[in-house]
Amino acid sequence: MSLPEPTRQDTRLDRYVSSYAERTNGMRASAVRALFAVANRPEVVSLAGGMPNIADLPLDALADTFKELVLTKGIQAMQYGSGQGEPMLREHICEVMALEGVVAHPDDVTVTAGSQQALDLVTRIFCDPGDVILAEAPSYVGALGTFGSYQCEVVHVAMDEDGLVPSALREAALACRAAGKKAKFLYTIPNFNNPSGILQPIERRHELLAVAREVGLLVVEDNPYGLLNLDTDPVPAMRSLDDEQVIYLGSFSKTFAPGFRVGWVLAPHAVREKLVLAQESATLCPPVFSQYAVSSYLETQDWRRQIVAFKDMYRARRDAMLDALAEYMPEGTTWTQPAGGFFVWVTLPEGLDSQAMLPRAVTARVAYTPGTAFYADGLGSRNMRLSFCFPTPERIREGVRRLAQVVNHEFELHQTFGLDRSPMHHGGGAVGPVPDQN
Ligand SMILES: Cc1ncc(COP(=O)(O)O)c(C=O)c1O
Repeated sequence: MSLPEPTRQDTRLDRYVSSYAERTNGMRASAVRALFAVANRPEVVSLAGGMPNIADLPLDALADTFKELVLTKGIQAMQYGSGQGEPMLREHICEVMALEGVVAHPDDVTVTAGSQQALDLVTRIFCDPGDVILAEAPSYVGALGTFGSYQCEVVHVAMDEDGLVPSALREAALACRAAGKKAKFLYTIPNFNNPSGILQPIERRHELLAVAREVGLLVVEDNPYGLLNLDTDPVPAMRSLDDEQVIYLGSFSKTFAPGFRVGWVLAPHAVREKLVLAQESATLCPPVFSQYAVSSYLETQDWRRQIVAFKDMYRARRDAMLDALAEYMPEGTTWTQPAGGFFVWVTLPEGLDSQAMLPRAVTARVAYTPGTAFYADGLGSRNMRLSFCFPTPERIREGVRRLAQVVNHEFELHQTFGLDRSPMHHGGGAVGPVPDQN
């Protein structure tokens, strides 16, 4: 039978426009998606994406490990598995969490397809449309996208240099209650927040948990970066301080590799049961081969030493970025000093707009993520997130140099004309995740 040549469907016409579920209105593409396509060209230094640099993984050793896996356990590894995740991996996950002080039983762990799916399942089991999620501001763009897709209202809670502000959390929770709304949980990234890089010290964690208990608020602790502490020992996880009030999300994406899509949720028993039901309805079971692969990696390789090697590499990149910012950025620009993770959060001088500036930066062959992506309410126009995880230190330095020239130029124009030249000033907080923008 000869079939006609496939042609690409005309994507301008959508015959189903009146048929979509209302929740699709909460799924928004990023306003800067088109620019990111350009930003991925080799001549552009991209400080935008959050891709881990996994080039130093021992590929030969991994090839041997995975060959052995297929030969000895291939039949189980390629079969359907448990909706909760493979018992062997759940035991390993408990060992990993112990590094941040978490004492947990494998039975309380649910494996997910990355912590992104963990966010999805947690929101699915707790939130009805219109429910409120309290989220530190700024917050991870992918979480905001998930919350939007479940038609939740995100109420932001202010951070200072030590993370979420406890009094602001109390106020937000009480204001919600007074308005007759249900705040289902607090979403926080206590270690090296994406996008700001801010770390919550231990005292702050205690204070926040005290407020959460006082107002009866569940805490969702999202912790993909906790073991990428570049300057000090890991701070005990919030879950290690309270095993009733906290649901903990973890991931192998940053400490091993994101392509396996293996993350997890640690939750009190009743919540865990709901999570497994939600997981079964979403995917039947998390990816089984990936779970076996991650388990074999943890069993056969020196993964702790690999994390130390990753940290040495990220530390050099972080230092290159902070040095270059200090050397090149004009006065009036400020930035965070992350002690770990992947990101630096920059605040531009008054009057500048990072979203409006992005096309000019890309023309100058450097890209970043505008701050508005990390707020559900359109704030963040004076901010940008710079990632130091992927480019080499030399490229980071060059990228920051180019960016500083653009900022300088914008600043001079602003000083000369005093105009708001942004057509999108304070507009459209783009919260939808875009490829390579995590
Ligand atoms: C704070 C945060 N949470 C969750 C994720 C999702 O990670 P993954 O699904 O790869 O585990 C990311 C990815 O960048 C992140 O930064």
